Amino acid sequence: MDALRAAIAEAQAGDAILLHGCCHNPTGIDYSHADWDEIAGLLATKGLLPILDLAYQGLGQGMEEDAYGVRRVLAAVPEALIAYSCDKNFGMYRDRVGAVYVMVSDPAQLGAVLSNGYALARAAWSMPPDHGAAAVRLILEDEGLVKLWQGELDDMRARMNQVRARLAGAGHAGSIDLAPLGAQNGLFSVLPLSGEQILKLRNDHGIYMAGSGRINVAGLTMDNIGKFIADLGAVAA
Ligand SMILES: Cc1ncc(COP(=O)(O)O)c(C=O)c1O
Repeated sequence: MDALRAAIAEAQAGDAILLHGCCHNPTGIDYSHADWDEIAGLLATKGLLPILDLAYQGLGQGMEEDAYGVRRVLAAVPEALIAYSCDKNFGMYRDRVGAVYVMVSDPAQLGAVLSNGYALARAAWSMPPDHGAAAVRLILEDEGLVKLWQGELDDMRARMNQVRARLAGAGHAGSIDLAPLGAQNGLFSVLPLSGEQILKLRNDHGIYMAGSGRINVAGLTMDNIGKFIADLGAVAA
């Protein structure tokens, strides 16, 4: 929050500011409701344009809970952009499904927003593939399918949070404090490992993570998590 406050203090009216709505990638560290309340007020006072990146709705605490920050900011500012992804919460990663939403203060601006949007889309991909988006639309238009989808999303979220609770419950793996992972959200967390330790995990234990120490908790299961914690402890003794 201190870094964000400092960045907002330096920004000029009209500057854009990019914020992750939930399940921050790569840290998993999300703003609290009180943080979002403060952020919304700061953005409004400064006259900044929020770009809200909501790529993991439903994979943190729940569909509604994960939208808190976005709703809070939208209620406070006159204009905003939202980049929404369905790739994770609909399991559509290889079909690249999402949407961009634009909130304008004056409906007269809509024509300019649309013509700029069309021009950007035309230059970027011309005709986007439609099948993934059509599948999402079919689900969202059918109450029964929405219930099925939300049930599956709840299961995915519960499983990731179970993995997080198990990691946090282990306390330490060697010198690494795993407790904070229990309070983080979404697919990712960053472990404080050196490049050398990350290579050792890869070469000696067959455990793969990004060179930054970012792990994807969805890659862990109740069957392999014990080995993961033990091997982490061996490498970070
Ligand atoms: C914060 C964030 N925004 C956006 C994306 C990408 O979204 P999409 O898969 O819709 O391109 C990702 C990861 O893939 C992400 O972590």
